[in-house]
This record gives sequence, structure tokens and C-alpha cells, in this order.
Amino acid sequence: MCIRDRTQEARLAPQKEQKRGCVDPEVTTELACATMSKPVVLVTGANGEIGRSLLQRLHTEGRYRAVTVDLTPLPERYRPLCVETYAGNIMDKYLLDQVAAHHEIEVVFHLAALLSTRGERDPELAHQVNVEGTLHLLRVAQNQSGRLGRPVRFIFPSSIAVYGLPDLAEKARAGKVLEDAYNEPITMYGCNKLYCEHLGRYFTQHFRQLGALASAARLDFRSLRFPGLISAETVPTGGTSDFGPEMLHAAAKGEKYSCFVREDTKIPFMAMPDAVNALMGMLEADRAKLTKSIYNVGSFSLSAKDIEDRVRKHFPNAEVGYAPDAVRNKICDSWPEDVDDTRARKDWGWKPNWDVERAFEEYLIPTIKKRYSDR
Ligand code: SER
Repeated sequence: MCIRDRTQEARLAPQKEQKRGCVDPEVTTELACATMSKPVVLVTGANGEIGRSLLQRLHTEGRYRAVTVDLTPLPERYRPLCVETYAGNIMDKYLLDQVAAHHEIEVVFHLAALLSTRGERDPELAHQVNVEGTLHLLRVAQNQSGRLGRPVRFIFPSSIAVYGLPDLAEKARAGKVLEDAYNEPITMYGCNKLYCEHLGRYFTQHFRQLGALASAARLDFRSLRFPGLISAETVPTGGTSDFGPEMLHAAAKGEKYSCFVREDTKIPFMAMPDAVNALMGMLEADRAKLTKSIYNVGSFSLSAKDIEDRVRKHFPNAEVGYAPDAVRNKICDSWPEDVDDTRARKDWGWKPNWDVERAFEEYLIPTIKKRYSDR
């Protein structure tokens, strides 16, 4: 079902009034033209963790106009950051066609997905959302590239879940893994992400290679493999790297936390501001310099105990216990301890701004303390 947010229309009305009251119509027209000429960015899953941070960044930078799609309506405070918001399902082809018909989309950030734990609870639904949904968006972006006569950039967050290390000994031996190693995911989510990386590459390089339109503009797919993300503002749902952010938020709220993985379970993490930096870096990268369409992006690597120690330093009364869930732990055990992101560093200058020390001391802890003390 498609619900076009009516608040958007309501919000436009006062803007029209303002224009009518303006003294210099030429200035008004110039301003309006400058706004209209900014490229439109479509963000799916905009109401999720990454989406909300990305919307703020796009708005601050001011170079793009954001149009969003999410299953749930965007909260009021995020709506002014967008030119239009749609509440609906990415499985709804009619909705996506409507969105594309109303906006000249130049960039897609396709963030909507069902994460790894949620995906194991309903693998078929995960496949529908993660694969069929992505296919719909690729089709929209491809049609749009044809209409514009130039490639629409399609930014796709993939994940460390595409890796599948066979056992802990191999995980320790492997250390930082390269993009092409261990591509044997053990979750539906990981399989979906890996396949969609291939789909995106196919659309960019080979789509309709035998068809009459073989020489038409193809979309420009770019994918980042994210580690577990930690935000001070939001708590993720449905993921398996969630033990990191959950532990931190529980401590900040003064709540007990029972960790669902062992103390020694170690995976790569990244602070949310760096995830947004990576998405923007990938968007702006010079296509001619991209040797591949898939990139690891790394930041720091922590075990559950490392996170507990960092949390305890600032919240000495934190109550953290361990009650490992065999399956969720197995999923984390299959993910690498760290990623080798040399390719991203070389091709488009990726470099995290927030190492573990800065991430905790300057972003996570102060922001989270403020967040829960403001309540
Ligand atoms: N955060 C994701 C998950 O836990 C992994 O990319 O499923």
C-alpha cells in the first residue's frame, strides 16, 4: 500500500505563501531554480538507523534533495530534511514507479533490508525484501538512467555478513579478510547481500547485453561492505552485531544487559558518522578510478568484552552478563575478525575518521549520555 505523506503537501503551502510575499520576484525565481536544480536522491529504508543519519548529512551538505521511502512514516522532525516522503513497501512496484514518475532521481541509496537475525526467523521474507526489493529498485534506477541518458548512481550497503569463516581457528588465522575471500555466508541475509552485489555489477556492466537497447546508459552500482554499526542516537533491530550497540545503550539507560554472544566474540565495528562518511565518499568517488563495484570499509575491531570494558569505564555500575545464544554466536563466529579495506583506500581515498578511541570518547559516550539525560 502506498501512502503519500500529506504533511508534505501541507508543508509546501506556507512556502508558496512566502514566495508571493517576497519583494524581489527575480531573486525568488533564482532561489527556486537553484533548489530545483539540485539532484534528487532517493533513500529507501530512510527511517532506519543509517537512513536517519544520512538524511541529516544530506541536508547539512545541501547539495541534494532527498526523497524517501520507508515502510513506516518518517517522524515529524525528519520531514523538513526531505522534499517528499513516502510510506510504503519497496515490494510495491506501483509505488516505486510513482516515485520515479514524480522525481528526476539521480542517486539511489538503497538502505531498506531485513538484517541477519530477523532474516533467520523468516528467510523467505528476507529473500523477498532483500533480493526482490533490490531488483525492483535496480529496475527503477535502470529505467531512470535510460530516461536521463546518463548513469544513475546506485549506492548499496552490503555487509560483513557476506563472509563465512568455517571455524574459529580459521577466523583467527584469516585476520583481515579481502573482498574475494570466504564468500560463503551462513545466513539468508548474507546470501542476499552477496547475490545483490552481483546483481548490481550485472546491471552496471552487462544489463540487456543482447537486447536492442544494449548501448543505452546503464546504472552505476557501488557497494560498501559495512561492519557492525554503532550509533549513539539509535539502537538497531534484527541484526546480529546488535550486541555492541545494545550493551552501550543499556548501560547508558542504567538497564541490565544480557549479551547473546560469548565475551571473546570479535567482529569489526564502525561508528555511524563514519558509515555516513563512507556512503558519501562512495557516492562522490570518480567512476573512472573505481576498479571494482564492491568495497570493504573498516574501522576498528572489538570483542564483546572489549565493548564491556569501554562501557564500564564510563558507566561503572553497568550490569552486563553473558548468556550466549548458540545460533547467533555461530553467525558472529562466521564473520571475520576484521576487514582489509586497501582497495577502498586506494581507489577512492577511504579512511575512517573515528578510530576506536575517538569513536567512544568523542562521539558515542558524550552523545549517548546527553541523549538519555535529556529524557
Ligand atoms: N549489522 C548487520 C547484522 O547484524 C550485519 O551487517 O545483521
